[in-house]
Amino acid sequence: MSKPIKEVLIGTMVNGPEVMNELAMAKLSGEDIENQRSEVRRKLREYHPPFLTLDVLEKEQLDPLAMRIRLCPVDGSVPVFEAGQYINVFVELDGIRTSRPYSIATAPHQRAYFDIIVARKAGGFVSDYLIDALKVGDTLTSTGPMGVFRYQPVHHKRHQVMLAGGSGITPMQSMILDCLAQGCDRELTLFYGARKLEYATNHEMFKQLDERYGNFHYIPVLSDEEQEGYEKGFISKELIKKYVTDVSDATFFVCGPEVMNHFCMLELEALGIRKAMIRRELFQSRADIENEPAWPQEISPDDTFTITCGKKSFSARATESVLAALEREGIKVPVGCRSGECSYCRMKLVSGKVFTAQGSLLRHADEVFGYIHTCKAYPISDIEVAL
Ligand SMILES: Cc1cc2nc3c(=O)[nH]c(=O)nc-3n(C[C@H](O)[C@H](O)[C@H](O)COP(=O)(O)OP(=O)(O)OC[C@H]3O[C@@H](n4cnc5c(N)ncnc54)[C@H](O)[C@@H]3O)c2cc1C
Ligand code: FES
Repeated sequence: MSKPIKEVLIGTMVNGPEVMNELAMAKLSGEDIENQRSEVRRKLREYHPPFLTLDVLEKEQLDPLAMRIRLCPVDGSVPVFEAGQYINVFVELDGIRTSRPYSIATAPHQRAYFDIIVARKAGGFVSDYLIDALKVGDTLTSTGPMGVFRYQPVHHKRHQVMLAGGSGITPMQSMILDCLAQGCDRELTLFYGARKLEYATNHEMFKQLDERYGNFHYIPVLSDEEQEGYEKGFISKELIKKYVTDVSDATFFVCGPEVMNHFCMLELEALGIRKAMIRRELFQSRADIENEPAWPQEISPDDTFTITCGKKSFSARATESVLAALEREGIKVPVGCRSGECSYCRMKLVSGKVFTAQGSLLRHADEVFGYIHTCKAYPISDIEVAL
């Protein structure tokens, strides 16, 4: 007889086997598990808390742009997570409640605390605050760990090739530390694109890991300076071919700003890599959204439109995401990745038109029934949206 769907789902989760064991024990001891749903929910919350309250334990400037922030939940229990996942940090600034996702940079076996690394974005709303104003001893709230940018041994090849740009190094760092600490036999190649060597976050650490572990290869790629012994330019197909002899026997992980992601995806396509062998995480939409290839030419970045949501109507620029505009008006929208992947921010587009930025993974059914990912949608006419 096939297993009930609930058991199958729990079985696939991190700590699923542990939960299943406890359920089996409860059954054996004659307890009616159907009456224990709240206990099951409590256990799931313990392993996968939806929200965290975090103490800021430490801050360290790693390079001119990047700040490492060490966090620990106030009750001391670091949640279970998989290398490559992120938390979404909530902040209230200038009266606006908003959030930003940050990948966890430490490995899951590190149980005393975890680190995020925040790169300064010129004029950035939240990164400036986290780097300059947040103090050791403050508390932050965030979601629990989330995201699917992770290595899956059943589906992925043994050679893991990582293409990182800027702060896109953080999920790769967690995966590398995890794999090396566990003594996994998979091959790891990290191409790390940075403008200059001084901006390559944790360069010394990766260099030392490369020297110590035979299965880890570190290739910094500098776009704006020549440095003896290092590659100059971008992470191109030629460079990938130079270091990865059999590209058909590798799974590729791409993470960085939208422009770099897009460039690398084209290079991988040119190498004939199947989409199924590429995992990608988009760190943010480009700031100059009006320069995306599909942007409607008749819309100027300065055009403003009216957004209506419930009883509120307000104006927003064409280059402001619907999510950012709603948050500016104090409207709470459930939010996770802010990059078009998790669907938490989906809303019904009741009327009007939006431009959908690259990287939005809108389900076909959502598209057919007129839903949008507000984090990736930009108003290009007056619009009405409903939660
Ligand atoms: C899965 C994931 C993991 C990430 N991990 C990291 C990481 O490890 N390290 C790291 O440095 N970065 C990471 N990022 C990027 C990070 O979330 C932020 O985008 C980055 O720090 C810049 O934020 P900012 O507020 O400083 O910049 P801003 O440019 O101010 O904001 C960036 C985004 O927020 C929107 N926005 C702008 N103003 C407002 C506003 N007033 N209200 C609401 N929204 C607004 C913009 O539309 C833009 O899309 C990650 C992103 C994702 C999606
Ligand atoms: S917040 Fe994840 S799709 Fe918008």
